[in-house]
Amino acid sequence: MQMAGPARTPQESRSDMRPYHIDDVMITPRQLERRVDELAREMAAGGHSDNLVVIGILRGSFIFLADLVRWFWLNDLHPRIDFMIMASYGSGTTAAQEPVVSRDCTVDLAGADVVVVDDILDTGRTLQKAVAHLQARGPRSVRTCALLDKPSRRLVPFEADFTGFEIEDAFVVGYGLDYDGRHRELPHIAKVTFTDGEAAD
Ligand code: IMP
Ligand code: MG
Repeated sequence: MQMAGPARTPQESRSDMRPYHIDDVMITPRQLERRVDELAREMAAGGHSDNLVVIGILRGSFIFLADLVRWFWLNDLHPRIDFMIMASYGSGTTAAQEPVVSRDCTVDLAGADVVVVDDILDTGRTLQKAVAHLQARGPRSVRTCALLDKPSRRLVPFEADFTGFEIEDAFVVGYGLDYDGRHRELPHIAKVTFTDGEAAD
């Protein structure tokens, strides 16, 4: 089968998109794999709940979560797995409005030990909102796990219980993270450089 050529760049398809390019690898697939393995061990070291529920925030967490739960199995952690969709980013890199739950998880959380998994902790609004939302459903505990953390961007006081990598204030894509829905398939994390000379937001 012939592979398609490079996808259209977003700026060709959307009038409000900014010109950009994807930089070299910031976090390699090997680094991701090692750290995700360690995160599963960290979680297992905290105890083995018989009512563990992992909830991924879509869409950015899908690759991270899929890798993480395979290490769970090796650490004798056996969760139920569900997803919720939280939306705050319109199309680009700026959080235009408060995050909202646009698709809730459906598993019963009464008495559960919940781990909420997201791709990146940026302003903190998404995970803060997700935790508040899930607390209302009667779990025994709610902990949070973010693959990436940009502490310098925080607008609300929020720290994840488990963090993969702390990174500088840069917009990044790959391993599930997108820019305008694209580049999630990269097996590594890479920085986006905007070539119009303006900051990300
Ligand atoms: P927060 O609510 O500002 O913490 O933002 C969390 C959400 O913003 C994440 O789930 C991502 O979807 C998105 N986001 C924040 N920073 C980045 C980035 O550098 N690349 C891709 N998505 C990002
Ligand atoms: Mg996103």
